[in-house]
Amino acid sequence: MIVVTGATGTVGARVVEGLRERGEAVRAVVRPGSKGLAEWGDDVERAEADFADPAALDAALAGADTVYLLVAVHPEMAAHERNVIDAAVRTGRRPRIVLHAAAGVEQRPEGVRFVGAHVAGLDHLRASGLPWTVVAPNGFHQNFLGMAEAVRAGALAVPGGAGAVSYVDARDVAAAAVEVLAGAGHEGAVYTLTGPEALTHGELAERLAAVVDRPVTYTAVPPEQALAGMLAAGWQPWRAEGMVELYGLYAAGHASAVSPDVAGLTGRPPRSFAEFAAEHAAAFRG
Ligand SMILES: NC(=O)c1ccc[n+]([C@@H]2O[C@H](COP(=O)([O-])OP(=O)(O)OC[C@H]3O[C@@H](n4cnc5c(N)ncnc54)[C@H](OP(=O)(O)O)[C@@H]3O)[C@@H](O)[C@H]2O)c1
Repeated sequence: MIVVTGATGTVGARVVEGLRERGEAVRAVVRPGSKGLAEWGDDVERAEADFADPAALDAALAGADTVYLLVAVHPEMAAHERNVIDAAVRTGRRPRIVLHAAAGVEQRPEGVRFVGAHVAGLDHLRASGLPWTVVAPNGFHQNFLGMAEAVRAGALAVPGGAGAVSYVDARDVAAAAVEVLAGAGHEGAVYTLTGPEALTHGELAERLAAVVDRPVTYTAVPPEQALAGMLAAGWQPWRAEGMVELYGLYAAGHASAVSPDVAGLTGRPPRSFAEFAAEHAAAFRG
C-alpha cells in the first residue's frame, strides 16, 4: 500500500493518478472537509487526517509500505513532516518514506524558511531509522498561473533579480515521484527535479510574451517593496517573508543548476517553460 499525503494538491493529485494508472494500491490522505477531492474511482482508498492530528495520521498510515510525504507550505510545516514520520514509525512496519522536499535541501541554505522546514524534516527522517528517498523539486512552472493576471497586463514583477532558475513542471515532479514510489532501489537517494534549462525572469517574461504575442516586461522588484506589496495584498506575513527569502535564493543564482534526474527517472526530458506557457496560453493571454 502506497499512502500519499497532500493528495488533493498540485503534485499530490497527479501522484495519486499516476499510481492508480499503474495499478498500484494507493491511499490518498486528505484533510477533513477538503473541498479539493479529485474524482478518483473506487480503486483509490481515502483517509482523512490533518497533519497536526497524530491519532488521525496513525489511522491514515496503517498498513503502509511506502509513504509519499508531501506537506503544504505552512508555519508548522516542519512539525507536520515530523508528525507523519513519527506516525510511520508507530506503524511498526518500517514503511519507506519518500519525502517531497525542495531543491537546495542538501545545501541547507540559511534563512530560507520554506527550504529550512524540509531540512528539519529530512534530519528527523534520517534519525528515524526508516528507509527514505528525497525528491527535491525546484520552483514549479504552475506557480506562474498565480501571476496570470499581471502577465495579462504585460507585467512580470517579482524580486528575482537577475538570477536564473531551472523551474520544473509539477507534472514532471509527479511523474518522477511515481517512478520512485512504484520502483525499488532508491534508498538514500536525493533526486533534484528541475526543468531542462535555467532562465532568468527576464527570459521567462520573453517566453510569456511570445505566447501572448504582446510585450511582457520583467521588473526586478526590490525585496522590501515586494514584501510590502504582498502584505498589502493580504498575504500572511510568514508566507510573504518566506517568498521574499526564496526569491533571494533565486536572485543569487542558487536555483540555477539543471539536474538530469527527471529524465533519469522518467525516461523522457522534462517539459520546458515555453511548452508550459504555450499550453496555458489562454490563461496568460486573457
Ligand atoms: N510550489 C513550488 O514551487 C514548490 C517548489 C518546491 C517544493 N515545493 C514544496 O511542495 C509542497 C507543496 O506541494 P503542492 O504545491 O503540490 O501543494 P498544494 O497544491 O498547496 O497542496 C497542499 C496539499 O496539502 C493538503 N493540506 C494542507 N494543509 C493540510 C493539513 N493541515 N493537513 C493535511 N493536509 C493538508 C491540501 O489539502 P486540502 O485539499 O485540504 O487543501 C493539499 O492536498 C511544499 O512542501 C513545498 O515546500 C513547492
